[in-house]
Amino acid sequence: MKVLVTGGAGYIGSVTAQALLDAGHRVVVVDDLSTGHRAAVPEGARLHVQDVGDAAALGRLMAAEGVEAVMHFAALSLVGESMQQPLRYYRNNVAGALALLEACEAAGVQRFVLSSTAAVYGTPSSVPIPETAELRPDAPELDEQMRAWYQRLTQEEGFYMLDPDAPTLLE
Ligand SMILES: NC(=O)c1ccc[n+]([C@@H]2O[C@H](COP(=O)([O-])OP(=O)(O)OC[C@H]3O[C@@H](n4cnc5c(N)ncnc54)[C@H](O)[C@@H]3O)[C@@H](O)[C@H]2O)c1
Repeated sequence: MKVLVTGGAGYIGSVTAQALLDAGHRVVVVDDLSTGHRAAVPEGARLHVQDVGDAAALGRLMAAEGVEAVMHFAALSLVGESMQQPLRYYRNNVAGALALLEACEAAGVQRFVLSSTAAVYGTPSSVPIPETAELRPDAPELDEQMRAWYQRLTQEEGFYMLDPDAPTLLE
């Protein structure tokens, strides 16, 4: 199968790209090299230096390459930095993923794997963590930081946001 690996110049993406090649698949990598490294892309995978946020360009690339499946690892992933620069993280990770999904739709690609985070399982009771493990994120300070961030956006910046405790709009 021809697989597009986004973020294939990064840690998890490059290892996945190599595993796919070892399993006999063909691999195309899209990476903007913002945190990744050209040298990490395994031999045998074609690298396109490109932002996943450009849906039109990605759709064209998928059609030209005959991509049949997408594995999405292109993201910014530093928790501390994400709290300091939330809008940059939302734009890159959320808007980027949406653009990628639009490109998949345009190119008729229906197989999509998203690399989430193992942090949703908290401190695991066994390793490796099975997918059936209980979802138990153990970072309450993140929740507090999110609330402080919502408060700052709504009170200081004048944004309208959803109250995390109740689905009503705050002013
Ligand atoms: N590292 C882990 O232990 C781990 C565990 C579970 C899930 N994840 C998730 O896997 C994903 C990748 O993590 P990683 O540790 O490999 O990070 P990484 O920084 O090593 O790799 C991310 C890659 O994405 C690229 N990238 C970022 N934004 C891009 C964009 N807009 N367009 C194109 N390329 C872009 C970067 O250049 C980099 O090569 C993240 O979503 C992370 O949350 C990581």
